Amino acid sequence: MNNFSENDSSTQILEFKTQHGKLIGVDGGPVEVSWKLRSSVSGLEQIGYRIQASSDPEFKRIVGDTFEQSGSSQFGISCPGPELKSREVRFFRVAVRTQNGWTTWSNPIQVETGLLHQSDFSAKFIGDNSITGEPSPILRKQFLLSHAPKNARIYSTALGIYDIYINGTKVGDSFLNPGWTAYHERLLLETHDVTNLLRVGQNVIAAELSDGWWRGRFGFMNQIENYGTEIALFAQLEITDECDLATTINSDSTWKVSAAEIRQSSIYDGCLIDQNLSQPGWQLPEFDDSTWSYAVEKHHDLSALKPRTAEPVREVARFDLEIEKHHDRSLLRGSQNISGWVELTVRGKKGQKITVRHAEVLEQDGQLHTRALREAKATDAYILAKDGLQTLTPKFTFHGFQHADVVTDAEILKATAVAISSETARRGWLETSDKKLNRLHENVIWSQLDNFVSIPTDCPQRDERLGWTGDAQAFAATSNTLFDTQRFWRSWLIDLALDQHPNGDVGPVVPDLLRLKPENGVPGWNMNGRAGWADAATIVPMSLYEYFGDIKVLQNQLDSMRRWADALDARRKGEKFLPTEFQFGDWCDPDAPGDKPWESKVPADFVANSFFAHTADLLAQVELLVGDAANAKRYRDICSQLKQDIWLEMGEAASNTTAGCSIALEFGIVPDAERVRVAKKLADLVRRDKGMITTGFLATPLILHALSKNGHFSEAYMMLMRQEFRSWLYAIDKGATTIWERWDAIREDGSIHTGEMATEPGSMDEPSMISFNHYAYGAVIDWMYRNVGGIAPQLTAPGFTEVLIAPRPSSAIHFAKCRIETQLGMTSLDWSIGKNGDFEALLELPFGSRANLSLPITDQSEIFSNGEPIGNGQVVSYGTYNLRVTNPQIISI
Ligand code: BGC
Repeated sequence: MNNFSENDSSTQILEFKTQHGKLIGVDGGPVEVSWKLRSSVSGLEQIGYRIQASSDPEFKRIVGDTFEQSGSSQFGISCPGPELKSREVRFFRVAVRTQNGWTTWSNPIQVETGLLHQSDFSAKFIGDNSITGEPSPILRKQFLLSHAPKNARIYSTALGIYDIYINGTKVGDSFLNPGWTAYHERLLLETHDVTNLLRVGQNVIAAELSDGWWRGRFGFMNQIENYGTEIALFAQLEITDECDLATTINSDSTWKVSAAEIRQSSIYDGCLIDQNLSQPGWQLPEFDDSTWSYAVEKHHDLSALKPRTAEPVREVARFDLEIEKHHDRSLLRGSQNISGWVELTVRGKKGQKITVRHAEVLEQDGQLHTRALREAKATDAYILAKDGLQTLTPKFTFHGFQHADVVTDAEILKATAVAISSETARRGWLETSDKKLNRLHENVIWSQLDNFVSIPTDCPQRDERLGWTGDAQAFAATSNTLFDTQRFWRSWLIDLALDQHPNGDVGPVVPDLLRLKPENGVPGWNMNGRAGWADAATIVPMSLYEYFGDIKVLQNQLDSMRRWADALDARRKGEKFLPTEFQFGDWCDPDAPGDKPWESKVPADFVANSFFAHTADLLAQVELLVGDAANAKRYRDICSQLKQDIWLEMGEAASNTTAGCSIALEFGIVPDAERVRVAKKLADLVRRDKGMITTGFLATPLILHALSKNGHFSEAYMMLMRQEFRSWLYAIDKGATTIWERWDAIREDGSIHTGEMATEPGSMDEPSMISFNHYAYGAVIDWMYRNVGGIAPQLTAPGFTEVLIAPRPSSAIHFAKCRIETQLGMTSLDWSIGKNGDFEALLELPFGSRANLSLPITDQSEIFSNGEPIGNGQVVSYGTYNLRVTNPQIISI
């Protein structure tokens, strides 16, 4: 118990948790904790806290104590205590002080570290004995336990992807493990509690391996063996039994290995399972493995093994597929474009083959549209070994699809689409009076789920699925609003820094396949350090700071950010501007030639130098927060001078384009004195184009902000609500359930864009670029939460500690319900225009947060909060507010 005299029994600590989001296998870095509070007394604030760390759950052996700390922070707080050791279990608790006194201690939380040092590893990487070997070897090891296990952990990973089984039960509920990272420097080690899977007597640990990202065909040029020529398993099973005796079962050359029923398994192409080659019971003790070979040890640097820090890929949803029989196939019609696979229940006969092909959309004649897949075969096939009913699921692959077709003589009884994603908890909800806008929101949710598969991918279906840095930075803010993405991005940013080139350049994709094998790039293109792509190095961490108050990520990435900003500076070689070179530009500008998406209207040099200025700007802010003042000044100076020069020499030409105006306004390239003029120019261009989208990947996320922050809400809404071709809502009418890569992916006449691309001869067999699941344009959601929903985070009090409540009703939208589950709790605003024309809203703020009210007023408005008159601009704290504005401002479109 806390030994402070006055008690605050009205305040409760809720959801006390660590940054890890899991209890075991965590890394050895400082444990950061956060908590939510609730109080029955209004007006209370946290004025202090105390955190204790202990090696026992009763807190008898305290190993760290912050004692009383003053302050209102409730998240990202480092815990006291010595550095954690491998396998250590530690408990934490917090007590909070309000003006009324101390709360009781929170419930304790526990973390257990994984294996942190090379010296902890006794297991070896093992595989089969051929060079490129079996597509998917299986491995097993039988062992005897003479006493019941009290505690057992398995630490495992693979070169490739793998599943582990103990006595026939799969360990964990995730897929595609260990996921994709900068493998040579960081290969994720996973920890599972397997105590309940073991028993006295004979036990078997078994594993299946596949190429995955390690060895499989992957990347721009469909190259193979990006990381290595051999796949291998690493497993270290540590058991303590009831007599406290320790046993370790290591993967080593005493394991047995065999070929398996999986005859092909490729992320792009799908898998082929020949059940006739299956070896029933191979995961169980009774199985006779005397004909199997011994496994072979493989070399891999054990210092690369690092505990997993973000969620693995899990099943997130299931959808029934409608089965439509045709004479030559069965069409499986889906309702949602997903990443995942088809689970089939069939009644068949031995020897029958079942082939499942996947596609995102159907051609007008009902055939699957597979051109968009390029060279990804996205085909799963099964050969049955017995008669009767059975359920078929592919392995070690995933497809981006909504529909599928099945060719078989077997009878299909049921088809289910299984959706997977790197599980990140939902954070944002927004519903408005406009159904199409709601579907757009839903589509962005799905594009995020579908493209957060281990890494943030550009798209989940074609022979690409790479961590394109440009798409990632464009979508970061939106992703941070919709889901609790902090661990996901932190993890990816570690790889971004690891894969940074020696000169500080960031690659176009992370993990960077081209850094490993530069010869596999598109000939003649050096794609490192490209504007708006490499800047993910600064933009993504800053977004985590804004949406999660994550100071730690700024500290962790500071060196990477500096290296990138310095690389840009060095690239100038003392000149004013960056040298002219190939840029992706405002990629996919819809007015660019269809086959040359980089030839955007806005001049590439303007884009390049503006993103450089923006990176310097962000870094100057980060230096002030976690770096040093001298550096802050240096980057601030670079930024100010560059902005001036850009505006002087490139500003006018750029501001003839909507992208140029948007970038110039949002990055502060436009001098203050000219903002009004440039914003008006942008608004005029948008009006001239009747709200039609004329920007690409870099400027589309900015344009609505550039309009509305400069007073042009009408034009912002005009763009948002446009339904004709080249708008967000156009795709809704065409049945989209995810965000498309091109606005006209399905043309007005219903035909599908051919997506041709101009590429270097020989670089791609059938160049095309026409994905139906690219999240970049979904970045508009960030604008919607801030301006339609009316809740925005503030950089000055990040992590939604202070929110700006600024809903802007329009003639098109008369209600919105917006909720964001922040680290402090649920922040919600539910507003509508009442029958009498008043703006009415219910605002709920969690303990520890404040809101700055910027309500939609006119000169004639009066504002009331809980019946009392208030002024606009008022700051309110924890509580529930019934707000009313008479004669509100309604934006007309
Ligand atoms: C990807 C994009 C990416 C672009 C850059 C495309 O193939 O799908 O999303 O940003 O290449 O070149």
